[in-house]
Amino acid sequence: MISKELRQKYLDFFKEEGHAVIPSASLIPENDPGTLFISAGMHPLVPYLMGQKHPQGNRLVNIQKCIRTTDIDKVGDTTHHTFFEMMGNWSLGNYFKKEAIEMSLEFLTSSKWLGLDKRRIAVSVFKEDENASLDQEAVDVWKGIGISESRIAKLGKKDNWWETGGQTGPCGPDTEMFYWVDDKNPAPEKFDPQDERWVEIWNDVFMEYNKTANGKYEPLKQKNVDTGMGLERTLAVINSLDDDYKTELFINIIKKIEELSGKKYEESEEITKYMRVIADHIKAATFIMSDDKGIAPSNLDQGYVVRRLIRRAIRYGRQLEIKDDLWTKQVAQVVISDYKDIYSELERNKEFVLNQLDKEEEKFKKTLVKGLREFDKGTDAFILFSTYGFPIEMTQELAKEKGIEIDVEKFNQQMKQHQELSKTASEGKFKSGLADTGEETVKLHTAAHLLLASLRKILGDHVVQRGSNITAERLRFDFSHSEKMTDQQKQEVEDLVNNIIKKDLIVICDEMTLDEAKKQGAMGVFESKYGEKVKVYTVGDFSKEICAGPHVERTSQLGYFKIIKEESSSSGVRRIKAILE
Ligand code: ALA
Repeated sequence: MISKELRQKYLDFFKEEGHAVIPSASLIPENDPGTLFISAGMHPLVPYLMGQKHPQGNRLVNIQKCIRTTDIDKVGDTTHHTFFEMMGNWSLGNYFKKEAIEMSLEFLTSSKWLGLDKRRIAVSVFKEDENASLDQEAVDVWKGIGISESRIAKLGKKDNWWETGGQTGPCGPDTEMFYWVDDKNPAPEKFDPQDERWVEIWNDVFMEYNKTANGKYEPLKQKNVDTGMGLERTLAVINSLDDDYKTELFINIIKKIEELSGKKYEESEEITKYMRVIADHIKAATFIMSDDKGIAPSNLDQGYVVRRLIRRAIRYGRQLEIKDDLWTKQVAQVVISDYKDIYSELERNKEFVLNQLDKEEEKFKKTLVKGLREFDKGTDAFILFSTYGFPIEMTQELAKEKGIEIDVEKFNQQMKQHQELSKTASEGKFKSGLADTGEETVKLHTAAHLLLASLRKILGDHVVQRGSNITAERLRFDFSHSEKMTDQQKQEVEDLVNNIIKKDLIVICDEMTLDEAKKQGAMGVFESKYGEKVKVYTVGDFSKEICAGPHVERTSQLGYFKIIKEESSSSGVRRIKAILE
């Protein structure tokens, strides 16, 4: 089976079960300063798991592009990837454990769908802890549909509880499905989760709790189901392949690397590993940069991850003795041609991606050889970073290969002093997790709508939003305007926003088609990212924007709006920082 068929089967099955197909969201989260990338299908759906109504209904299915950087060191084995696609189905307060499990088994084993052998399936369920009890209901459902007790492992929080990166948000116990992949030996009666021939293929999470900021678990307004099935791994399993990189999702990329290096994928364990890392990293960098947000390699946030991925790939390319001058883009071209039918942004932003790869490769190759020489002499991690452009993670890796340790503490201190780059040193930034959808961010989000409308009234209709970033403390808002705002303009904008706040207008949310939204003159990104219908938030006759929300109900909830800074962001773009008091 090829990936196209697998994707289609998944969507078709859940469509037949009454689910609406929604598109993959961007890889870069909206208004979520705590997280760099979307790392699971549920991530863009958090407001709906928390109880907001989704315009497409309460049964959803999609295939979401994901980036996970937490396991970057494991990439190189048969199953770990930085970029992957997650197939998922959701119940937003609709069906729960019984239907979810039954549908999963039906999809896996029915000859109409994946046709996997039921005798080779085992599952795990949540064993109690201090917050929740044993998931007996899941056990009973599995037994009721023919999975014997000996094939049901009861595991703790580490294995059978799902929440994002330990942060706040919807979470709950889960049940995972495993498939016996050893074709030469029959699946043992008893399921041993330690035996690697049992490969995890699907996870059904029963999201009935909300983890609060103080670490407590409160029942959610509604009981949800969130499932995740990795496309790459599932494709390998159904094709009896013991390596994801042998599936059609990687084979052309690997072939290209073989051609560039003149080596064979299975020539040695090391070569296999290097080729996997290069294939994974260039694919991930290509997808991140092709997102419409225009992320380029840099020393900050997402840009730094892209830089790390490309530089690590280049280093491994050197180990493979790739001689071509600019070769990373050649690998990216294969990624683009393999995936462009599914993800049109790859074609749309192709020039940008290939240019960025060239630039980054040129830049890094200038210093790589010298830097490696310096490293052999024992130069410290900070000099390697600041003078030779070695990401600290790469220096650590080089050191590990030599059995030496890097003083990361010291490096971080030096980085902190190095003001401009201080942000990237924080390890925490690379962990994925969910934003604080707390009250303050919701308020600032509504304030952003009022700010945009006010800027347009005071400065003119050329003003459109060019970006925004909200934390619990402040709002950062980028907009198109080429001159510095005068003090008077700033005052007028501030007054206008506060005037609307005082009027205590109701914030109304309507659902409509994109065309209708355009016709009504709504501001916002005209991409049918949330499917056919979009949400439009209206504040009196003052502001109308396409937006996923959430927002406050009445403007008076915002308090007092204050601009604390107005500065240039980039050419033709100004940036306002504002707070609510
Ligand atoms: N959210 C769950 C996961 O990522 C399904 O595994």
